[in-house]
Amino acid sequence: MRAMKILISGICGFVGSSVARTLRDHFPQWTVCGLDNLSRPGSETNRRALIAEGMSVIHADVRLWSDLESVRDISWVIDASANPSVLAGVGAGSSPRQLLEYNLEGTTNLLEFCRQRCAGFILLSTSRVYSIRSFSALPVVEQNRAFTLDLSAALPPGVSAEGVSEEFDTSPPVSLYGATKRCSELLALEYSEAFNLPVWINRCGVMAGAGQFGRPDQGIFSYWIHAWARKRPLRFIGFGGTGFQVRDVMHPADLARLLAKQIAHPSRCTQRIANLGGGAGSAISLAQLSDWCAARFGAHMVTPGDETRPFDIPWVVLDATAAQKNWDWRPEISRDAVLEDIASHAEKHPDWLEISGV
Ligand SMILES: NC(=O)c1ccc[n+]([C@@H]2O[C@H](COP(=O)([O-])OP(=O)(O)OC[C@H]3O[C@@H](n4cnc5c(N)ncnc54)[C@H](O)[C@@H]3O)[C@@H](O)[C@H]2O)c1
Repeated sequence: MRAMKILISGICGFVGSSVARTLRDHFPQWTVCGLDNLSRPGSETNRRALIAEGMSVIHADVRLWSDLESVRDISWVIDASANPSVLAGVGAGSSPRQLLEYNLEGTTNLLEFCRQRCAGFILLSTSRVYSIRSFSALPVVEQNRAFTLDLSAALPPGVSAEGVSEEFDTSPPVSLYGATKRCSELLALEYSEAFNLPVWINRCGVMAGAGQFGRPDQGIFSYWIHAWARKRPLRFIGFGGTGFQVRDVMHPADLARLLAKQIAHPSRCTQRIANLGGGAGSAISLAQLSDWCAARFGAHMVTPGDETRPFDIPWVVLDATAAQKNWDWRPEISRDAVLEDIASHAEKHPDWLEISGV
């Protein structure tokens, strides 16, 4: 395997820092460095830690071309810098314009960066590129305090018991966040064709683990467990306040193992877009997560809320069969290991929600 220098944008974020450490630990012959504008509350803690561990971390903003100009000799870029909230651009705290600059203009600059250096490009995209309307129309039934797919009903293309595949509908509405990622995907594919750049697009489902800067709108597993451990007020939002909404969950260290394969074998397959997630076996509802928290930390009250939020979806499970076939990849870290990872972190860092700006 030839020596590589990999630049991770958003290296001080939850996923960027985990991917950086996993690649460094498993591929010591590769150089991993990164940049971050430290806009996510909590990311400063990773900047200090990564530098102390010997990694090169530049304070830079992907929106600014002049911040990128001086970075040289990069063979691959992993684009992990974004505003990752599905409410970005429509909720308090960020404008649509800023979301476009962070998620779309930032990716455009990184693609130009790669073109000029003949570097490969990996986009961390999202399950949020799939249609909210089509997701919401999926037939679900309640089972054990969780929505589950009704397999006796007719299912649209790209949906099976394994989850939603790359064939699922990507038509609007997908949220402004989802739209920035879908546009980034298309741009990356065009750059790949036009300039013969190796490009991989990984549509990731929910990721979670220790050290995630969880908030109610992003990083829900981390937020819920930390808030439960602290006995902070918690509310089930949407779906009649039941907490039956379901997500599958994956640890970013599992993502990193696939990124390493994509970097090492850029000609291995022709399917550029892959779904990556914990899969049906890792799926859990918020109500079931609450049961897990009660067993781990003791009882705590969750209030049923009657409000609904835009973009809420009852059931999201990603079918990663294509990644399994093309890359011989499957997640190795179980859902319960992910939850326990967060719980132990919560015990060691009782101030984590404050550090995360919540
Ligand atoms: N966490 C998930 O569940 C999940 C799921 C699907 C996709 N993703 C994608 O993975 C990537 C990483 O997500 P995350 O959970 O680590 O989020 P995060 O907020 O923890 O990390 C993002 C990092 O990017 C930095 N950043 C933001 N804008 C920047 C800019 N303009 N210039 C430089 N740095 C900037 C932030 O300071 C932060 O450190 C994102 O692209 C996100 O859309 C995440």
